[in-house]
Amino acid sequence: MRKKIVAGNWKMNKTFEDADELMSEIMDNLEQIDLSRDIQLIICPPFPYLEMCTDYANDSYFAVGAQNVCDQARGAFTGEVSAEILRSLELVDYCIVGHSERRTYYNETDAIVAAKVNQLLAQDIRPIVCCGEVLEEREANKQFEVVERQITDGLFHLSAIDFADIIIAYEPVWAIGTGRTATPDQAQEMHAFIRSLIAKKYGDEVAQETSILYGGSCKPSNAKELFANPDVDGGLIGGASLNANDFIAIAQSF
Ligand code: PGA
Repeated sequence: MRKKIVAGNWKMNKTFEDADELMSEIMDNLEQIDLSRDIQLIICPPFPYLEMCTDYANDSYFAVGAQNVCDQARGAFTGEVSAEILRSLELVDYCIVGHSERRTYYNETDAIVAAKVNQLLAQDIRPIVCCGEVLEEREANKQFEVVERQITDGLFHLSAIDFADIIIAYEPVWAIGTGRTATPDQAQEMHAFIRSLIAKKYGDEVAQETSILYGGSCKPSNAKELFANPDVDGGLIGGASLNANDFIAIAQSF
């Protein structure tokens, strides 16, 4: 059975002291979560906090991820961090790729997403690959076309074996940080569509094993009804992951 996952994307927030406090609060409250349900929790902090978070997260159900990685293996790329560097520090098991903020502000194309995915897989780091349409695309009923392109061009060059390490996050851009969540039906419809694309490409077994997370203003008050959908396997949480109680409450929403 595919994993239930709640991943916190802290983005570029918190001083070190505040991040340390948040992490300690989360760990103190972990026992509230029913871990017999095989839930994977992931925290994706800014790069400089990876080690601090990893020091806390020494249990198997709690992992740390990066928010970004370079699309190149190594060399003269000032300011970048490679998958090889992340692997050599043994700090992360996961990494977010293709977040809409990176697509919008840093021109991350589907080809760059594909290259980053390759770098991560070569270092045994599992990519959490984001996809999702902007508001104008949804209003023009182009959301399926857009997501199909992002998934096809970003991921479908992989072999079925490599694809098994992919986690997908559907994040409608109009819902990210806006307080406007997709309805449970909208989320389920898109998640089922993504799963059908995977089934067509890699077969039903691979599709059934792929975790597809929802992201975009997911919070304690709506997580339950979103996660109740058969094709929604958890969430990628931005704003609400910056508060320990909210993050824990979301992880309890399965
Ligand atoms: P949000 O962000 O939960 O603050 O909407 C989600 C994300 O960007 O991953």
